[in-house]
Amino acid sequence: GLVNTREMFAKAMAGKYAIPAYNFSDMEQLQAILGACADTGSPVILQVSKGARSYAHETLLRHMVKGAVQMIREKGSQIPVALHLDHGDSYELCVACIESGFSSVMVDGSHLPYEENVALTRKVVEFAHRFEVTVEGELGVLAGIEDEVSAEHSTYTNPDQVEDFIKKTGVDSLAISIGTSHGAYKFHLAPGEEVPPLRFDILEECERRIPGFPIVLHGASSVVQEYVEMINSFGGKMDNAVGIPEEQLRRAAASAVCKINIDSDGRLAFTAKIREHLAKNPQEFDPRKYLGEARAEFARLVRHKNEAVLGSAGRV
Ligand code: G3H
Ligand code: 13P
Ligand code: ZN
Repeated sequence: GLVNTREMFAKAMAGKYAIPAYNFSDMEQLQAILGACADTGSPVILQVSKGARSYAHETLLRHMVKGAVQMIREKGSQIPVALHLDHGDSYELCVACIESGFSSVMVDGSHLPYEENVALTRKVVEFAHRFEVTVEGELGVLAGIEDEVSAEHSTYTNPDQVEDFIKKTGVDSLAISIGTSHGAYKFHLAPGEEVPPLRFDILEECERRIPGFPIVLHGASSVVQEYVEMINSFGGKMDNAVGIPEEQLRRAAASAVCKINIDSDGRLAFTAKIREHLAKNPQEFDPRKYLGEARAEFARLVRHKNEAVLGSAGRV
C-alpha cells in the first residue's frame, strides 16, 4: 500500500503544487492526517522523526501505518501514501527504517562538513535504491528552537553546491535552507516588526542550477495564530510564537518546492483543542473526548493546508 516519492514529486513539479509531509507520533494524529488526505484526495507523506519512532515503538508504528492505510483503502481511497523517515541522523537508522518498510528516508548530513555530508548521503542512497526507497538529502542549516538558536543564525543553502551534491550523491530530493526554521518560534521580532520574507532569490538560484529537481522545505508551519491564542487563553503560555505566512508557502508550492514539512501546526491544533476541552469540561476524564476533539481539529487543519495552501487536494 505504500509508494516512494518519485512519482508524487514528478506530478507536483508539473502541476505546480507541493506534497504535504505531516509528522505524527500517535494513533489520533495518524487517523487525522490520513483521513483528511483521503477526504481531500491528496497524496501524502507520513513523516516520522527518530524521536517519534521510539515514542510509538518501531513495530507498533509500522503496523499502525499499515492498518491506517488499509482503513482508507476499505473506504475506497486510492491516494498515494509514502512513509518517510524525517531527519535520519545515521546510516544505521536509515537502513533500519528501510528494512522495516519505510518507502522513503531523509538522511540529514546538513550539520556535517560538505564532503562528509556527500559521503553519508551517498551511502544511504546506494542502500535505499536497491529497495526502490527514495532519499532526501539536505544542504544548508535550519535554525531550530531545540538548539536555542534564532533563525538569523541559520546558514542558507549555497546554490553553488547543489548541482555537485545531487550528482555525487544520487539523492531524489533536496531540502534547502531559505529562512524557515523548526518549531513554533521561528523569528524574534521587535514590537511591530513584520516576519521577514523567505529568501526566494536563493530558491530561484537553486532551481536554475538543478532545473526540474524536487526541492523540500522544512520548518514550514505557519504557527496558526488562532491556535496560539487558544492555547494562551486556556492556561498555556506561548508568547511570540510565529511562523511562515501562508502566502509565502503558496508561492513556494508553485515553484520547484515539491514537499512541504508540517509538524508544529499539527501539534498546536492538537494542544489547543485539548486545553480548550479540559478547561471547559473540568469534570471530563475520558481521553476519547479530548483526543477526539484534538483529532477532528488536526483533520480540519490538514484539509485547509491541502486545499488552500499547498494545492495538493484533488491531485490523484
Ligand atoms: O524536524 C523536526 C520535527 O519537527 C520532529 O521533531 O524530533 O521533536 O519529533 P521531534
Ligand atoms: P515545523 O516545525 O515548522 O512544523 O517544521 C517541521 C519539519 O520541518 C519536520 O521535518
Ligand atoms: Zn525538518
